[in-house]
Amino acid sequence: MKAHPYGDFLHCLSSSYIKLFYYSKVIYTQNNPSYSSVLNASIHNTRFATPTTPKPYAIITPLKTSHVQSTIYCSKNHGFQLRIRSGGHDVEGVSYVSQVPFVVLDLVNFRDVKVDTKNEVAWVQSGATTGELYYGIASKTQTLGFPAGICHTIGIGGHLSGGGFGILGRKYGLAADHVIDVKLVDANGRVLNRKSMGEELFWAIRGGGGNTFGVVLAWKVKLVPVPPVVTVFTVNKNLEQNATKIFHRWQYIAHKLPNELFTAVWVMKVNSSQVGKKTVQAGFRGMFLGGVDELIPLIQHEFPELGLAKENCTQMSWVQSILYFGGLPIQPVNILLNRSALPVSSLKAKTDFVREPMSETGIEGFMNMFLEEEADFAITMIEAFGGRMDEIRENELPYPHRAGILFESTYIVQWTNEAEAGRYISWIRRLYSYMASYASKSPREAYYNYKDLDLGTNNIVGYTSYEQASVWGLKYFKNNFKRLVQIKTKVDPMNFFRNEQSTPPL
Ligand code: FDA
Repeated sequence: MKAHPYGDFLHCLSSSYIKLFYYSKVIYTQNNPSYSSVLNASIHNTRFATPTTPKPYAIITPLKTSHVQSTIYCSKNHGFQLRIRSGGHDVEGVSYVSQVPFVVLDLVNFRDVKVDTKNEVAWVQSGATTGELYYGIASKTQTLGFPAGICHTIGIGGHLSGGGFGILGRKYGLAADHVIDVKLVDANGRVLNRKSMGEELFWAIRGGGGNTFGVVLAWKVKLVPVPPVVTVFTVNKNLEQNATKIFHRWQYIAHKLPNELFTAVWVMKVNSSQVGKKTVQAGFRGMFLGGVDELIPLIQHEFPELGLAKENCTQMSWVQSILYFGGLPIQPVNILLNRSALPVSSLKAKTDFVREPMSETGIEGFMNMFLEEEADFAITMIEAFGGRMDEIRENELPYPHRAGILFESTYIVQWTNEAEAGRYISWIRRLYSYMASYASKSPREAYYNYKDLDLGTNNIVGYTSYEQASVWGLKYFKNNFKRLVQIKTKVDPMNFFRNEQSTPPL
């Protein structure tokens, strides 16, 4: 491999905008004793934290916009690929791993959250987590919320630029649907907002993957009304308790329920009531924007098979419901500020969007796969769509999975022994093959926010053709992919912002 002018890169940084005063707080080279802790602090998939995982030549943690501009300038001029990291939840490690010499721009210091309840908006910097945004809103008002993902440690930067679906999704749509302005640094180091970048680029970064187009530093988002009290519930049914039949029925109902009611089914292996045996559980979970006395008759009328009772339900605030779904105690709510509150493991994920209900035998086969040994730490989170998601046009934003989707399935398998990773990865690939006949077709749609490099990748160096990139691009973006390619060609023709699944220019 050609030697890279590493020293020149550092010299470039120090002689451009990163003054000596900031140097030690901003630039972490491999000789720096804090290098590993800074790198590992935001790694949420230990599959990419092994001794053989390629490491960045340097990690830059900017404190100012000018630090971001100089990192872009120096990386470009000295042949380093740039990986942008906000929360570090990229399931394929794309924000902190590369096969070519690279540096990581880690936005961990860009974490400001400014909530304006009067105008019902907030400015949030990319390095903040959804939890920090949720906390910022809830500490000012109980009647506003934000429709983003369930896990509170995901970063705003990656999440909003890829879509962002959560428990308010049926009522309000995606996080990206609520972005009204941004601050972005492009490949030429220009700082742009919505007005100066124009509507095309502004469209692209709301779901089309920020990392293809520039570094998004901050987002202005519209907040949404929530009632002061919401109701959450969980009803667990396993294979011995008719789980398959109830799940089968759920598919016909969940997308048609009132928009105020979000439901999901979490499938995983659990202990059976028969000692020493395992079974598979479908956990029916929900969040209703209203009180329990309204919810129970609603479910009894629409979905009596679930047998929802008052004791399955708890009333709480919207922000507490985020913690409930994340499997955390619902108070104190300042746990939302803890970026490492959730355990980290090695994992592989895949997604599907389902447009036709699965047959009962189909569901049975799917559930039975969780009895296999490799599924000990596997989960599938199946989230109902419909509601507001049905009303937004497919080309409104790059994220196209809207009208007609019954539910999205996120399959996740986890493991602890890295030497056995292959077994677990083959299990999830088999599960995905099994689901082929039930998932959406032509293309088989996939959610960009859970990147899956099995779907195809750009060439590590050199040109990737439109045809090659379409293999995964059409799955993530459907007909919007072509427009993303055109915008990329216009704003970054030299393909500076690139990674395994970035949109290539023509
Ligand atoms: P990370 O920093 O790894 O970035 C992800 C991608 O975005 C990378 O390619 C990166 O380069 C790019 N990027 C990051 N910051 C950028 C910036 N400022 N400018 C330009 N590009 C940038 N999704 C969902 O919709 N609903 C959910 O409930 C969940 N829940 C969930 C739980 C868990 C445990 C995981 C691991 C993931 C999810 N997700 C999710 C998926 C999540 O939305 C997705 O992984 C996001 O990209 C994570 O964003 P981060 O900033 O944390 O990741």
